[in-house]
Amino acid sequence: MLFRLNISLFAASIALSLAGCSGGDSATATVTALVAPVPPATTLSLAAQVGKQMFFDETLSGSRKMSCATCHDPKFAYGPPNDLAVQLGGSTLTESGDRAVPSLRYKEYTPAYADLLDNPDGISVPGPGGGFTWDGRANSLADQAKIPLLDPHEMANTSPANVVAKIQVSTYAPLFQQAFGGTVFADPAAAFNAAVAALQAFQLEDVSFHPYNSKFDLYAGNKIGGTLTAAETRGLKLFSDPATGNCASCHYQGAGLGGSSALFTDFSYEAISVPRNLAIPANNNPLYYDMGICGPIRSDHVPTSANAKDAFCGMFKAPTIRNVTNRKSFFHNGVMHSLQQVIQFYNTRDTMPELWYPTIGGVAKTVNDVNFPTYGLIQTQYVGGTVQKYNDLPAAYLANIDTQLPLDGRAAGSAPPMSDNDIADLICFLGTLNDDYVATKTPPISGSCVN
Ligand code: HEC
Ligand code: HEC
Repeated sequence: MLFRLNISLFAASIALSLAGCSGGDSATATVTALVAPVPPATTLSLAAQVGKQMFFDETLSGSRKMSCATCHDPKFAYGPPNDLAVQLGGSTLTESGDRAVPSLRYKEYTPAYADLLDNPDGISVPGPGGGFTWDGRANSLADQAKIPLLDPHEMANTSPANVVAKIQVSTYAPLFQQAFGGTVFADPAAAFNAAVAALQAFQLEDVSFHPYNSKFDLYAGNKIGGTLTAAETRGLKLFSDPATGNCASCHYQGAGLGGSSALFTDFSYEAISVPRNLAIPANNNPLYYDMGICGPIRSDHVPTSANAKDAFCGMFKAPTIRNVTNRKSFFHNGVMHSLQQVIQFYNTRDTMPELWYPTIGGVAKTVNDVNFPTYGLIQTQYVGGTVQKYNDLPAAYLANIDTQLPLDGRAAGSAPPMSDNDIADLICFLGTLNDDYVATKTPPISGSCVN
């Protein structure tokens, strides 16, 4: 069935051909300039002002050296400032986390998690979607903030009352009382709820969390400086083409959401079988698998018995890919460290699985063939042996793994959907999604990402 979405909100728009996340339906949607539901506040509410102080307050941790901004650095789009797969935290800053730190930008429209969320693209059938963290276990930014404050591997406060006691002796205690009432500290449970509401208000109100000032935003709004180069235009086509890159089917949400556009995520969850990362200490236990929605970190979708069928196992949230070229570790387990590697994974997960998953048995070559790619996670070429394809999900759940383009399950050794040049163009397009773009007076006529 062919749907046609005709959303004409603002100035120029471009046609994007979109395939629904869970099927072959296609439609022509329109990318439009953004219309914020609430105009960005020029001044923050009192609650948001408190939240801002808290966000950067290192004393709100067991170590007294870690704030939200330690892991969510505003200079890195509120993502991690380094290339570690997972960060160190805890009372002595030596405890390893279990997952990569997501960017906190563009979360303001994220709906609460539902097993059957209507897909915002208006095309795909409902499926798991919404919520915060890689597995959707927090339903609001306020609920989410409780996790790092109390996690012994992160900010490691011992209890909600412990957090409140620290706020009570902070420089912003009077502001906290102004925002939430003079007697707020008398009830630590209520004060803790006020504290996480303040963190939420800061993230929702402060424009630095959703500036919409990338080159793409100028382009979609038909503004000066928003002309995409030839390479970026080819990249956009690959991004949205259901027959090649197909990125838009999960990383673009259509033009719904009260007129907003271009969050570059549809909040959906899929199992794309990111390889296991042995740099995460928890993964040293061969029986441990981080399976996203079905646990064990999230607890409400755990399979009824070991290996009982469970469609949620292996599913993680498709994150926004705005500002992604500034990241240095990728996916829920941070196993990849460059964008080229990420996209080559999408391209060759099935055609050259030996680049991504370990080979058991076989003989390692002393010298790799000259054409053996160097971008993979595995740098050693083997003769014979068996590739442990999809090595971070127990066998019982392998049927959950997504097989839509570009990860379409095609046979090992066959041609991948994208060429190396395509991938270079796609990376150029992704670069247009970085915030704080400054248009040059005269567009360059040569250089990378131009022609
Ligand atoms: C030690 C590093 C660390 C610190 C400190 C930290 N976070 Fe996070 N944050 C993470 C990680 C890792 C995740 C992903 C967690 C998961 O998927 O289970 C995350 C996820 C989030 C998310 C969900 C984003 C999304 O895409 O769904 C929000 C919101 C968030 N953190 C806010 C905060 C706030 C507010 C604070 C301070 C109270 C904070 N974080 C402190 C590491 C950290
Ligand atoms: C079937 C849905 C789907 C398709 C198609 C898809 N992605 Fe993703 N993407 C995801 C999911 C799910 C994740 C998170 C997976 C995980 O961490 O286990 C993800 C993660 C990413 C990340 C890592 C972001 C971060 O912050 O770590 C990048 C970059 C990315 N995708 C780019 C792309 C590009 C480029 C394309 C097109 C070539 C694409 N994706 C196609 C679902 C999809």
